[in-house]
Amino acid sequence: MAAAREHFGSRLGFVLAAAGSAVGIGNLVAFPVAATKSGGGAFLLVYALFVFFICLPVMMAELSLGRRSDKDPVGAYRQLSGGSGPWRIPGWLALITPFMIAVFYLVVTVWILGYLVETLRGNLDQLATQAHFKQFINSPIVFLYLVIVMLGINGILALGVKDGIERAAKTLMPTLFVMLLGLVIFVLTRENAIVGIKYYLIPDFSQLDARVVNNAMAQAFFSLSLGMGIMITYGSYMKKQDSIPGSARAVAITDTLVAFTAGLLILPSIFHFNPQIDTTTLSDSSAGMIFLFLPKIFFALQESIGYFGASAFASAFFFLVLVAAITSLVSIIEVPLATLRDEGGMGRKKSIYTVAAIQLVLAIGCAMSFGMADWLTSFVQVAGKDTSFFALVELIFYSTILPLNGLLVCLFVIYKWKRANFDKELQQGDSGFAGSLFQRYVNFSLGTFIPLILLLVFIITVADKYF
Ligand code: PFF
Repeated sequence: MAAAREHFGSRLGFVLAAAGSAVGIGNLVAFPVAATKSGGGAFLLVYALFVFFICLPVMMAELSLGRRSDKDPVGAYRQLSGGSGPWRIPGWLALITPFMIAVFYLVVTVWILGYLVETLRGNLDQLATQAHFKQFINSPIVFLYLVIVMLGINGILALGVKDGIERAAKTLMPTLFVMLLGLVIFVLTRENAIVGIKYYLIPDFSQLDARVVNNAMAQAFFSLSLGMGIMITYGSYMKKQDSIPGSARAVAITDTLVAFTAGLLILPSIFHFNPQIDTTTLSDSSAGMIFLFLPKIFFALQESIGYFGASAFASAFFFLVLVAAITSLVSIIEVPLATLRDEGGMGRKKSIYTVAAIQLVLAIGCAMSFGMADWLTSFVQVAGKDTSFFALVELIFYSTILPLNGLLVCLFVIYKWKRANFDKELQQGDSGFAGSLFQRYVNFSLGTFIPLILLLVFIITVADKYF
């Protein structure tokens, strides 16, 4: 007989683990940068609307698929679609997508670990130079850091759902909250902090064009770890008596609060350093912000808080981002592990070795695509531009397939699995949800405009990035 399915020990454990997945580099860096460049409070408002009216129902749909089927994404789609047929395809997509997103996210996490080590060694002056980043990512030490990061993450995963994923989240997430708050309180007491806060929060609705709105939607979707099979898998570890709507709401609120709070850290830091800064010059990319811009700010902090103070601040920041990235990676790597166990009948250990071996090779490929290997650096041409292996993986799996997966979840739940079954699952553990206004909203929106919006995001992205 197959071993009993593992479960999270408590509702809080689930919420922290799922929030650990959701809170990542996206919240701590991409969100504050996007908000700054796209109308401040106006962006915040649009983002929050997307989180609660579009993403939250999708999260509930994914969790329900997992909990009803007690399976990984491939198994969930197979079982709930009643066997074979085209509805098995979204299951496979919800396996390949997290597998590949994990690969490029691993590489970024490795760089963060590298920068943490450098700040702990007090090398802020070097980190602050423009040339350092390129030099660092092309040095062989990244392979050592890659092995360390993979050992750490797979070490957590080897302990299982309750003793590994849940216990790690219960330690790491409170640590992350406390550190984030500590850093925010510190920067808010710096000179010119208020200029940054004003810039962050005062709405400028004139900035809201189609592109900004599309970015807000894509960012919200990514930030809540949707379309990656994660919530299906975590749903399968939820207990039947726990409320899906309530838990999903707690995760969405936590994730959004952390993103919002991260803005209170990043913006005042930037404006403390330069109150007259022209924010259009800030890098659009999270990597540009983390590895090129922020180190300069940390270095400049030496003037006001001294060498040790600035190094400690920078180390705390990189540690914070590292923790957020690790809890996200744990969740995303659990998806292929669950598939190998559920579909392939493998044990946990064997599934870890298998996935880790393939991911190691692919991550090395990604890490080498910044100059170490020419063929990986100009791997293919997309829209007439040389595109590296790393950029290609990001483009296909993060930018393109993610909204498509979300769209398929909605259509599957409403039109194939059927509303009545979905409703039943949502009411399981939450009798108050039945007949509520929100239930009616979720039911209606998932079958109508949410998939349409996701289709639009998909089309805009393809038109924007491939042609
Ligand atoms: N919610 C995560 C973030 O905002 O960074 C998204 C994510 C990315 C989850 C990569 C997991 C992961 F491996």
